[in-house]
Amino acid sequence: MGRKYMNRVLVTGGAGFIGSHLVERLLSVGCHVTVFDNFSSGSIENLASVKSHPRIRIVKGDIMDLNMLNEEFRDVDTVFHMAAVVGVKKYVENPLKVLLVNSFGTYNVLEAARKNGVERIIFASTSEIYGKNKNIPLREDADRVLGPTNIDRWTYSTAKAFDEHLCFSYMKTYGLKITILRYFNIYGPRQESSEYGGVVAIFIKRVLSNKPPIVLGTGKQTRAFTYISDAIDGTMLASEKKEAIGEAFNIGSRNEITILELANLIIELAGKKGVLKPVIEPYEYFYGRSYEDIMRRVPDISKAERILGYKPKVNLRDGLKKTIEWFKKTCKCSAR
Ligand SMILES: NC(=O)c1ccc[n+]([C@@H]2O[C@H](COP(=O)([O-])OP(=O)(O)OC[C@H]3O[C@@H](n4cnc5c(N)ncnc54)[C@H](O)[C@@H]3O)[C@@H](O)[C@H]2O)c1
Repeated sequence: MGRKYMNRVLVTGGAGFIGSHLVERLLSVGCHVTVFDNFSSGSIENLASVKSHPRIRIVKGDIMDLNMLNEEFRDVDTVFHMAAVVGVKKYVENPLKVLLVNSFGTYNVLEAARKNGVERIIFASTSEIYGKNKNIPLREDADRVLGPTNIDRWTYSTAKAFDEHLCFSYMKTYGLKITILRYFNIYGPRQESSEYGGVVAIFIKRVLSNKPPIVLGTGKQTRAFTYISDAIDGTMLASEKKEAIGEAFNIGSRNEITILELANLIIELAGKKGVLKPVIEPYEYFYGRSYEDIMRRVPDISKAERILGYKPKVNLRDGLKKTIEWFKKTCKCSAR
């Protein structure tokens, strides 16, 4: 690494799932790290291994508060902007919050970065911005294909796409050095496992609690799941390479699997084969009517491979095994 701008970093959303893993990695390579988080979905437990580290500062703050961001961005070289309202259930339950925090919050982060001369910004975007484009695998220059605006599920995609436009406009207008990372279904230890969390964590928690995983829709919809350490590798590479400035990258894997297969695989790896079987329910069961699914989602990661030297290393079975082990050790779910 050894680049000056990596010395003093700030991670918005640093107490969240991806943010906390990133904070650990940044500390391990010698950075001074400020965590800026309002602890709405993140937690201090996520930072348990590093919270007393001599090079960490943990600040409770909200990205909607521009004054506070201005304070905290003084003397920061690199900002990793991970804070957001995340999770499909939140998009359909509180679309207004998703829209406002995920757009104005990012605007505030970019404003504070500009005013304080922050050298590098890494913005956490999402595979959701491609919507239901069927052109698989999805390349970075793919079209965005979205449903109608009365379907709340598209609020997150729209706000994050607005953010990407903001990033490109700030680069053009003010010369900020920004890299956009579009994460594809990241999973691993510390992923939110409540109904507001991601599908892998939700399934693992249910299976370890001896409850069948609930598969929505047909179960034939696919995703390409990415283990957290691979996502952090990609994030670090993006912050180190000057060729990454001004670019958007897919950060994901080629581990495509249907959601029904995922449920069965988790049952098998948790040692519950023959004991549990996935249950199929309509989408309304979880998300009400304001939902529309994306049937296939797989990234083309060749741009990240070529420019960043990114290479996902953890296959789905191994990643799931590690995640199941972590949940067994830590989560409240009991096998009884
Ligand atoms: N997990 C994934 O698969 C995935 C996929 C695509 C994109 N992303 C993006 O990656 C980033 C991190 O996601 P995650 O999965 O770690 O989610 P997360 O919910 O665990 O982390 C988000 C963090 O942001 C904090 N936060 C939320 N609102 C805030 C506010 N107003 N001010 C300050 N902090 C606030 C939360 O407390 C939490 O710690 C997000 O920007 C998300 O959109 C994640």
